[in-house]
Amino acid sequence: MATARTRRRKSRSPIRGKVRLALIGAGGMANGVHYPSLSEMADVDMAALCDLVPDKAQATAKRFGIPKVYSDYRKMLDEVRPHAVYALMPPHHIHDVAVEVLNRKHHLFIEKPPGVNAYQNRQLALHAKRNGVIAMAAFQRRYVPIINQLKKRVEAHGPIHTVEVNFIKFAPDPVNYYGGAIDILSCDAVHAVDTLRYLCGGDVLSVASSVRALDADSPNSFYALVTFSSGVTGILKTNWACGHRVFSVEMHTTGMSAYAEPDVSGAIYKDGSTEPEPYDPAGCAKSDATWHKLGFFGENRHFIDCVKSGKQPCSNIEDTVATMELVDRIYHNVIPGA
Ligand SMILES: NC(=O)c1ccc[n+]([C@@H]2O[C@H](COP(=O)([O-])OP(=O)(O)OC[C@H]3O[C@@H](n4cnc5c(N)ncnc54)[C@H](O)[C@@H]3O)[C@@H](O)[C@H]2O)c1
Repeated sequence: MATARTRRRKSRSPIRGKVRLALIGAGGMANGVHYPSLSEMADVDMAALCDLVPDKAQATAKRFGIPKVYSDYRKMLDEVRPHAVYALMPPHHIHDVAVEVLNRKHHLFIEKPPGVNAYQNRQLALHAKRNGVIAMAAFQRRYVPIINQLKKRVEAHGPIHTVEVNFIKFAPDPVNYYGGAIDILSCDAVHAVDTLRYLCGGDVLSVASSVRALDADSPNSFYALVTFSSGVTGILKTNWACGHRVFSVEMHTTGMSAYAEPDVSGAIYKDGSTEPEPYDPAGCAKSDATWHKLGFFGENRHFIDCVKSGKQPCSNIEDTVATMELVDRIYHNVIPGA
């Protein structure tokens, strides 16, 4: 009979052959980016799918050739005994499911944010550690080909001293995610917070912020100046009361500046030149598919590779605690009057 100890040892041993996945969620992100990415991978077996809405589960299973369909994820896990589980569902519903999956000693991939706040993220990280499994949060901007290629290029020129991440949207009031279950900064603008941490590196030393509710009842505008132990200064500009949607990054070292808007274009400027050296998102990704250009394929590939090798992913949920803690510090370190 398998003891808890032998089960744990099994879950840690490297996987040869296909990685067997059980998938929870047949919604927008699942259909739009994650399952298209996984279905391109020859070493992945999308063995079973569960959704509370049977029609969605059936339609998604048919689209991706997933043989088994469930409406009860526990039953699916009992029967399929997967190597890893995807749970792609709203942040205020994820915690209970994630804890159950981790305590059953399955590796886990969840969407961002990893819980509604730093406390929940920390608890998930503890469960993952105790059970000896890999748990990764999907902060796909860490895996965007054009961003990583520009980062490498700037770092080859000199140490990055300044990073700016800009994420603006037009989102008329009332703006609240999931009926107010979670705030804008923790739920969605957190992408920019995580990207800032990723590009700056090191630990957060200090934060000075502006948090405002612009023509809204709840905060929808967040600006921050963040210093990092790496020596990099980070500038965060997130605002949901703007005229359109833009996600862009800037990285600077002495003599070189890089700019990227991952779904549009990128460029390098060198030594005062006014002529940009263009970077093309599709060229960098070697594909025009959205899920390749915007980092979704890369993050899914990285997760599968980590499950196979037993290595911790870049955006493992112990690391993302620091992202959620930076969200807290942005709320708590508002400059008087800002
Ligand atoms: N990375 C990004 O850029 C990005 C963009 C949008 C959303 N998201 C995140 O992705 C996650 C999912 O978002 P979405 O837009 O795909 O949501 P969605 O509402 O379209 O899909 C979620 C699905 O999960 C199912 N579900 C919920 N609880 C379940 C349970 N207990 N068992 C089985 N099925 C269950 C629902 O029926 C639904 O079909 C959220 O955490 C969100 O924050 C990320």
